[in-house]
Amino acid sequence: MPTTVLVTGGAGFIGSHTCVDLLEHGYEVVVVDNYTNSSPAALDRVQKIAGRPLVGYVADLRDRHALDGVFERHAIDAVIHFAAKKAVGESMEIPIDYYDINLAGTTSLLRSMHAHGVHQIVFSSSCSIYGDAVRVPLTEDDQARPTNPYARSKWICEQILRDACERYPEISAIALRYFNPIGAHPSGQLGEVPTGVPNNVVPYLMQVAVGRLEKLSVFGSDYATPDGTAVRDYIHVLDVVAGHRVAMEHLEDESGMRVFNLGTGVGTSVLQLVSALSVACGKALPYQLADRRPGDVATLVADPQRVERAWGWQATRDLADMCRDAWRFQRLNPAGYLGGI
Ligand SMILES: NC(=O)c1ccc[n+]([C@@H]2O[C@H](COP(=O)([O-])OP(=O)(O)OC[C@H]3O[C@@H](n4cnc5c(N)ncnc54)[C@H](O)[C@@H]3O)[C@@H](O)[C@H]2O)c1
Repeated sequence: MPTTVLVTGGAGFIGSHTCVDLLEHGYEVVVVDNYTNSSPAALDRVQKIAGRPLVGYVADLRDRHALDGVFERHAIDAVIHFAAKKAVGESMEIPIDYYDINLAGTTSLLRSMHAHGVHQIVFSSSCSIYGDAVRVPLTEDDQARPTNPYARSKWICEQILRDACERYPEISAIALRYFNPIGAHPSGQLGEVPTGVPNNVVPYLMQVAVGRLEKLSVFGSDYATPDGTAVRDYIHVLDVVAGHRVAMEHLEDESGMRVFNLGTGVGTSVLQLVSALSVACGKALPYQLADRRPGDVATLVADPQRVERAWGWQATRDLADMCRDAWRFQRLNPAGYLGGI
């Protein structure tokens, strides 16, 4: 069982919640993050909530030298690899950056792991690799049809891991294809605090709720869905986090590459999400319908049975829980982490 875990991108949304969980479960945690979409304040809060310290390094994953230094200083047992750029729309604008950061970051990490005899990795993959789904819910055996550079970068990383596992039988890799993680830590101290204008719908709407942004643009209202807006499988970030710990604890079960969806199996349209968040924050959140965004798809909903059968993991929180926790965080931290602890 791993005892010291390297979390790349550990100051980000999912990474920071994962660090709390790992610390609370007795693991030693080492974080590498370059803070391009986060801040060190997230790690201060992680340590305060968990009541235990972690070790954080400011470094870009593509900096092999810096990574090697981390592996030399710590006896890392397993890696959870979150660090990446993650916005579909942005990836259409700056595709080369997406390939550089997501692919070169991953190969640099794998090379450093290999050089230091670290063979266990949980990788953040994404439901976006399924692309324009022919049918839902999506199983892990459905064909990948990525429709944008972000999704393609995640798909290529999965192939890189698969090839590495083929070549080096000592490697054990689990790719978790998450659907749409939202929500926040129930303490109200940790949440999603992207740099700049949020690319994801919930942090955007939360800023609308506190008056920092005017209204949400709902991209696409003519999809073949019940209300015409895109349908996604929203999942509470803490359920995603629990999925990571369980995955990590099963890395040693077998070598090679395994792939699991992390979703709830429940589809929610953008308009249903706006309505649920409006209920949570007690006011109607303004929105306007806009054109489809290039690279987006109509419906992505998970079939989560494989992971349940493998490890008994299933999501335990519903949309109302996700909206309540997201709003609690925003209400207590209207300016993100700037207000301090
Ligand atoms: N949030 C989602 O909706 C979602 C869905 C599916 C998959 N994912 C994947 O999960 C992972 C984490 O997502 P998140 O929502 O926490 O994102 P995030 O942007 O909040 O966190 C990513 C973290 O990685 C850091 N980072 C980025 N590039 C780096 C680099 N080159 N070197 C070091 N650090 C770097 C950022 O500063 C940030 O702290 C990503 O790989 C993302 O693609 C996210």
